[in-house]
Amino acid sequence: MAKRNIIITGGAGFIGSHVVRLFVNKYPEYNIINLDKLTYAGNLANLKDIEDKPNYKFVKMDICDFEAFYQLMQDEQIDGIIHLAAESHVDRSIKDPFTFAKTNVMGTLSLLQAAKLYWESLPEKYEGKRFYHISTDEVYGALEMNHPEGIEPPFKTVASSEGHKAYGDEFFYETTKYNPHSPYSAAKASSDHFVRAYHDTYGMPTIVTNCSNNYGPYQFPEKLIPLFINNIRHRKPLPVYGKGENVRDWLYVEDHARAIDIIFHNGKIAETYNIGGFNEWKNIDLIKVMIKTVDRILGNPEGASLDLITYVTDRLGHDARYAIDSTKLQKELGWEPSLQFEEGIEKTVRWYLDNQEWMDNVTSGEYQKYYEEMYKSN
Ligand code: NAD
Ligand code: DAU
Repeated sequence: MAKRNIIITGGAGFIGSHVVRLFVNKYPEYNIINLDKLTYAGNLANLKDIEDKPNYKFVKMDICDFEAFYQLMQDEQIDGIIHLAAESHVDRSIKDPFTFAKTNVMGTLSLLQAAKLYWESLPEKYEGKRFYHISTDEVYGALEMNHPEGIEPPFKTVASSEGHKAYGDEFFYETTKYNPHSPYSAAKASSDHFVRAYHDTYGMPTIVTNCSNNYGPYQFPEKLIPLFINNIRHRKPLPVYGKGENVRDWLYVEDHARAIDIIFHNGKIAETYNIGGFNEWKNIDLIKVMIKTVDRILGNPEGASLDLITYVTDRLGHDARYAIDSTKLQKELGWEPSLQFEEGIEKTVRWYLDNQEWMDNVTSGEYQKYYEEMYKSN
C-alpha cells in the first residue's frame, strides 16, 4: 500500500473519531492528521486508545482559517482530505443559523480553495489526490409517510431484523433533487454544491456521500439516542418531539466508517454515494426499544421507564421521514451494513452504561477543560 498523507477534519467528533480510529489502525503506513477546532462537540477522549500511535497526529485548527490550512497542506504534503468537520445538530441550527453557515459553508469553501492552490502548484497536479466530503441525507428534504403503519420494503433489507418496515413508497436516491428544510441541512446542501463546483470548474477529484442517521459510541448526548439512554439511566424525562411519529433511518457508526474507507479508496471521482442500512424506525418505537434494553440491562422490571416518556412541542420544520436507498454503494463497491439493528442498539446501550465517566465528563463540560489547557498555545 502506498504511503499517503491524509487530513481527517472533525476527527474529534462522533463519526470522525470512528473514521480516524479505523484509518490509524488499518493503515499504519499512512500519516493521519486529525484536524479539529474542538468545539463543544469535539472531544479527544474519544481517541484515547490511538493517540500515541506513530501514524497519528492531532492539529487544533478552525476549518475557516484558510491561511493556516493552506500552510498545513504544504507542510504535510497532503494528498487526501476526508472532510467531516461541521456543526451537526439541527436544534442548534434553528437557534443559531449563522454559525452553521460559517462553519459548514465557509469552512468547506476554505478547505477547497486551499487544496486547489496547493494541488495545482504541484507538478503532478490533481493526480492521486482526493477531496472526500461527508454529507447527510437531510439535504434531500423529507419523504412522505404514505404508509404510516409500514409496509414490507420492496428490496432486500440487510440491516434490519424480521418485521422491518418502510413507511412510504419513496426513498432518497443519489439523483433525488436537493430540498433542505433546516438551517443545518441548507448549510450542508450549500457545501455539497461547492464541492461539486470545484470538480466541475477546476477538475478537483471530489467525492460526496450522503448518509442516514448514525448511532453508536461517542455521540454527543444532545442527539436522540445517547440523550435518551442517559436520561433513562438517571430517571429523567424523555422529551419526545410532537407525537414521536417521525421516521429516521439508522446506521451503526462503524458501518458508516467502513463505507467511508471503501469509498475513499475505490469510489469513482465526481460520484455521489448514498450510505444507509434500509433501517427505518418511528421515533416512538425506537424509544421503546431503548427503554426495554436499558431496563433489562439495569435489572429494572420490564416497562419501568415507560413513564418517563414526555411529549413536548415539536421541532420547527421537523422533517417527517428519511429513508436512504444505498443500492448503488452496495452493488458497485460491495459495501453492506454488518449489524442487525437489535445488535447495534444492544452494543450502544451497553457502551453508554459502561462508560458513565465519559458521559459525566461530557455533560459536566470537564472534557473541555483538560484539552483547553493542553492546546491553549495553538
Ligand atoms: P459532531 O458534531 O459529533 O462532530 C463535529 C466535529 O467537527 C467536532 O469534533 C467539532 O469540534 C468539529 N468542528 C466543528 N466546527 C469546526 C471548525 N470550524 N473547524 C474544525 N473543526 C470543527 O458531528 P458528527 O455527528 O460526527 O458528524 C460528522 C459529519 O458527518 C458532519 O459533517 C455531519 O454533517 C455528517 N453526518 C452526520 C450524521 C449523523 O447522524 N451524526 C449523518 C450523516 C452525516
Ligand atoms: O439524517 C442524518 C442526520 O441525523 C445528521 O445529518 C445530523 O447531523 C444528525 O444530528 C441527525 O439529525 P436528526 O435531527 O435526525 O437527529 P436527532 O438525534 O437530533 O433527532 C432524531 C429524531 O429524534 C428527530 O426526529 C428528532 C427527534 N428528537 C430528538 C431529540 C434530540 C426528539 O424527539 N427528542 C429529542 O430530545
